[in-house]
Amino acid sequence: MKPKFKGKHFITLEDWKKDEIETLLDVSQDLKQAFLTNKDTNFLKNKSAFLMFFEQSTRTRNSMEAGLAQLGGHANFLDTATMQISHGETGKDTAVILSSYGHGIACRNCFWEVGNKFISEMAAHASVPVMNLQCDLYHPFQGLADLMTIREVKGKTDNLKVSIIWAYATSHKKPISVPLTQSLLFPRFGMDVVLAHPKGYEMPDWVIEKAKKNAKENGGSFTVTNDMEAAYKDADIVIPKNWGSWASNTSDDVIDAVLEANRHWKCTEAMMALTNPDCNYMHALPADRGNEVEDSVIDGPQSIVYQEAENRLHTAKAVMAMTMGNK
Ligand code: CP
Repeated sequence: MKPKFKGKHFITLEDWKKDEIETLLDVSQDLKQAFLTNKDTNFLKNKSAFLMFFEQSTRTRNSMEAGLAQLGGHANFLDTATMQISHGETGKDTAVILSSYGHGIACRNCFWEVGNKFISEMAAHASVPVMNLQCDLYHPFQGLADLMTIREVKGKTDNLKVSIIWAYATSHKKPISVPLTQSLLFPRFGMDVVLAHPKGYEMPDWVIEKAKKNAKENGGSFTVTNDMEAAYKDADIVIPKNWGSWASNTSDDVIDAVLEANRHWKCTEAMMALTNPDCNYMHALPADRGNEVEDSVIDGPQSIVYQEAENRLHTAKAVMAMTMGNK
């Protein structure tokens, strides 16, 4: 029988069936338990993966590097500025060569209208699984860790009002890949998802159509609003986070008039007071403290951001073990 997971690319969770995602969540939970009880998990003994980064990272890089070591393998960190890619070597040639040296290739490339194409080009030519460490469109490792965290904290995923809310930030013009991934993924698990943003921060039309289709097929719902307070009202989970206006404005400029007109889109104690009393605050991190969120919220009792970040380790290990392993 053909192995179900070995060699499968992990570029978007849209390519993974619901039962396959459930398996990844179960394996993540098992690996979390094994980590906490110091059990051996040498499922990838003598195996190597290459981690290519076009951008900065704390969680993604370290969850993959530490995770692969804990699985008995080795991760090669590659700053793409020091690779021949920076002299124009193609994704195809890079993928063919790295495939011959190891067992997995992972890449972060968030450049708008470039990143997903580059990672997909590598996947088309690699003979090992290619893992997306975040591109301009998707952040599947983040989506999986978010799903695991919601399931752990709430004990279920269906019939939850989960609000993905744009927030003001000035640190850099962030990709849309985190809210896009959540918008497509969460309705598949029965959540009632509200996507809230000011005018100018729309998701591409195909994302809205696909999110609604995913909701209809799986008993969830997906609505879009420009009303911030409506998104907070009676929410079970809020995910206020900045993203850039990439779908309507491809400029790299971080600060512009549209951004500045929306400084009030901040997660405050007053906004949290509109939610259900047991509502949780989530954020993929890094957070732009003071702009996206008040310290008293992100450091407060409703925040589950550190559990969410910790679960990046266990989900990274599950994806590597399942796609680079033997079964
Ligand atoms: N959430 C996330 O991807 O964090 P890093 O950018 O630090 O990897």
